[in-house]
Amino acid sequence: MQTSQDGTGRFYITTPIYYMNALPHLGHAYTTVLCDVMARYHRLWGDDTYYLTGSDEHGEKIAQAALASGESPQAFVDRISLAFRETWVKLGISNNDFIRTTEPRHQAVVQRILQEIYDRGDIYFGSYGGQYCLGCERFLAERELVDGRCPDHGTEPAYIEEKNYFFRMSKYQDWLIAYLNEHPDAVQPEQYRGEVLSFLRSPLEDLCISRPKSRLTWGIPLPFDDNYVTYVWFDALINYISALGYPDGELYQRYWPAAYHVTAKDILKPHAIYWPTMLKAAGIPVYRGLRVHGYWGVDQAKMSKSRGNVVRPLDLSDKYGVDAFRYFLIREMTFGQDASFSEEAFVMRYNAELANDLGNLLNRTLHMIGRYCDGRIPSPGDEQTEERRTFIERVLSTPAQVRQAISDWNPQGAVLATLELVRAANLYLELRAPWTAYKRGDQAHVNATLYDVASALRWTAILLYPVMPGKMTALWQALGQPGQPAWQDAREW
Ligand code: MSP
Repeated sequence: MQTSQDGTGRFYITTPIYYMNALPHLGHAYTTVLCDVMARYHRLWGDDTYYLTGSDEHGEKIAQAALASGESPQAFVDRISLAFRETWVKLGISNNDFIRTTEPRHQAVVQRILQEIYDRGDIYFGSYGGQYCLGCERFLAERELVDGRCPDHGTEPAYIEEKNYFFRMSKYQDWLIAYLNEHPDAVQPEQYRGEVLSFLRSPLEDLCISRPKSRLTWGIPLPFDDNYVTYVWFDALINYISALGYPDGELYQRYWPAAYHVTAKDILKPHAIYWPTMLKAAGIPVYRGLRVHGYWGVDQAKMSKSRGNVVRPLDLSDKYGVDAFRYFLIREMTFGQDASFSEEAFVMRYNAELANDLGNLLNRTLHMIGRYCDGRIPSPGDEQTEERRTFIERVLSTPAQVRQAISDWNPQGAVLATLELVRAANLYLELRAPWTAYKRGDQAHVNATLYDVASALRWTAILLYPVMPGKMTALWQALGQPGQPAWQDAREW
């Protein structure tokens, strides 16, 4: 089975680079944990994997947040970006790099690409007046407004008119439609691909890609006009290749365009429309896939500062453990759909699935191996009963199910398939009752049963390792296995 999905065995995965205007919350943690889980699965089966996250540090929103906290923009983003990186370390995130848009290596690539597109004639100087939403940091088309307000921020946009530089995005509309039709896998799940195509049914406008320095200085200067800085989206999207050292870097040669960008639905348009047209205009191949997930609400409501219901990931991981937190995020959200967070739901899953189903299975098994088999996993023996064959088939089919779920971008399905195996192992123990077999002196039955269940646990440790690296390493070692869980041939029994 090909799991890197491009035939090269390479898998490059990215999170959005989050705005450094506030501390990380549940939504940022979800995307970052999700990408971590995907990266770890791919590494597990040997794909050449690279995982990038980072921070988006320019633009009006950040300049204003810095002003409000009485810091210089640079000091402000240094502080917030550090808080993000510390959070990711605590959440066990295994990113290979962390890119900051204020780094010289990023700014140089942004300027290079601006110059390239300018030289090719796709950036022009013009005047524009329109409804500008500060929250979105972009001009909104009339048809996007709901009752005169931005649908995402609920605020009335301000009318702004000024001279600016524009990217000839409209020129690429037909190309983009054809591209998306020829590459149905480029934007998924299907509902989001449909949204993009339906947006593209109306004429695409050119994109304003500059801000006059008279209004905003916190940005990357345009290489061809020092009176302007680069629009934050045009700057930020380029992180996905600047971090690889575009155009000559070894990482760029190796991982581009084997890229999967993961975002929530809020930033579909910049990723599905601006970014591919920018790449096309600069003569760079388009990324392999955009994967879009839904939104987390809290107790059925939108998470927001004004409601005071912002969930901080470290509060939960400190209280329940980082692995339980990661497990809940992946297990609870169906990729592509919205989900609602509540601490009660978290505790319920924790008790039912991690403590009861998995914890009990492990404790019972280890206890019986200790009591009936001198603390060593027994040899399997050669019993060939139907019940045993059925269970072994169950164990051996689970790795392929998990692998398929991951290649389908269904990490929840991967977790549930493994959880089913755990439940089947508990039932198998009940059915085989090794404790009564032991009493009647049937050691062969005891050995076969405990061997089988230990094998199911060993596979559980491997298959849930990407989700709960710490706990699954402990499980693996409790079964007497050295090091960390490692993928193995499923036929090995
Ligand atoms: N800086 C831009 C992204 C530039 S990428 C080239 C940005 N930053 S953001 O801080 O607003 O992050 C948005 C992303 O954070 C979402 O796409 C998603 O990954 C994550 N989430 C923020 N809130 C979320 C929820 N409530 N639920 C799920 N994910 C959420 O946009």
